[in-house]
Amino acid sequence: MPSTVILGAQWGDEGKGKLVDYFSDRYDVIVRYQGGNNAGHTVQVAGMTYKMHLLPSGVIRRKRSLIASGVVVDPRVLKQETDFFTRHGLEIGPDILGVDFRAHIIMPWHTFWDAAREKGTQKIGTTGRGIGPVYESKAARVGVRFEDLVKPESLKAALEHCYPFHARTLKEIFGVNELPSLEETFKQYNELGKQFRPYLCDASIEIDQALKNGKNVLFEGAQATLLDNNFGTYPYVTSSQPIAANAAASAGISPKLISAVEAVVKAYATRVGEGPFPTELKDELGEQIRKRGNEYGTTTGRPRRVGWLDLTAVELGKRLNGYDGIHITKLDVLAGVKKLNVCTAYQTNGKKINYFPTQHDELEKAKPVFETLPGFEEYDWQEACRKSAKEGFNALPNNARKYVEFIEKQSGVPVLSVSVGPGREEILLRGAKA
Ligand code: IMP
Repeated sequence: MPSTVILGAQWGDEGKGKLVDYFSDRYDVIVRYQGGNNAGHTVQVAGMTYKMHLLPSGVIRRKRSLIASGVVVDPRVLKQETDFFTRHGLEIGPDILGVDFRAHIIMPWHTFWDAAREKGTQKIGTTGRGIGPVYESKAARVGVRFEDLVKPESLKAALEHCYPFHARTLKEIFGVNELPSLEETFKQYNELGKQFRPYLCDASIEIDQALKNGKNVLFEGAQATLLDNNFGTYPYVTSSQPIAANAAASAGISPKLISAVEAVVKAYATRVGEGPFPTELKDELGEQIRKRGNEYGTTTGRPRRVGWLDLTAVELGKRLNGYDGIHITKLDVLAGVKKLNVCTAYQTNGKKINYFPTQHDELEKAKPVFETLPGFEEYDWQEACRKSAKEGFNALPNNARKYVEFIEKQSGVPVLSVSVGPGREEILLRGAKA
């Protein structure tokens, strides 16, 4: 497909980074389209673990990797990540990375503001990276853009416009007095700006031209459908829109240029932070899956809440995003669980509904209705991967394959791949490998 969006179908942490890295060899350009360093994409290649928060996952394969206008950029984090790659022999120069000149910059006040608000009356359980506040500043037109960061005169002008407003808001509303001075902020950010000046690009034009020149473009989502600011479990959501339609809007291309949308679905569900999670497992089994699946936040280290797979949520995402295919991840983590529950409907307000409840009164009272499938034992997953080159999903143990088939049948979306380990090669493709 010339242009594909790969995005999360649940509450994030489905393993999108690994999938984007795996499939990025089929694409020429990889585009991160929303969110910021609240994301945490972990990719393991040849014994090396790469943890990326901001960089598109295409950088590992040295593909042209773009940060689109809808992403929010913390240049301190961008520097840490590019330095990390340089130390490991994969220098990320402006030939690899481009940052759209319109992308908004996370400034020191945004992180203070995020932390201070989390201590208030409505705790969301944010990642504390200033994501909500930077999107608020953008909407309120008191933001700093990447083009300002990299041009000293623009940075000075932007700070003169924004700084007094933010300093006053922080002090008067949140009682925060630790904000570095305007001069210190200019000094620090101007230094970062100088380094990143060569990376300034117009991703909108570049992506449009790439597609018109017959190149393939992969759009990488961060967070996920149920964290979407409009369609997720509001207010326990992020401040951007991970849904597929926003890939075009954020990248600045016509929606008609997106040719396929693929969902990443973890074999069970997880969620970090506050908010409704009707299939949550608060027992021993939840703890077992958390440990086995290493379900601790890449960005914050927080233990993730764990629960059964919710296919009504996948159905909601299918309607919003129009899935052409599903990638199932972490199937191996469920090995040894005797019986596997999958939520296919809800009981709420005295009636059975077969959709994910979205209005507050429905969601609060919703009790999941499960279908139970037989579990599968521990298996030689490496062997399954090897055999899958010829046998596809038939290389999976019987009940694991049935679990995959159940997801496919219920969702009505073909399953394209199944991941059974964190490594790049620990993936089974539906048919024989090309
Ligand atoms: P924020 O995006 O930091 O404002 O956090 C808002 C909500 O989204 C919180 O519940 C976070 O835990 C969640 N969140 C943000 N980014 C991610 C992610 O990459 N994976 C999982 N949850 C996330």
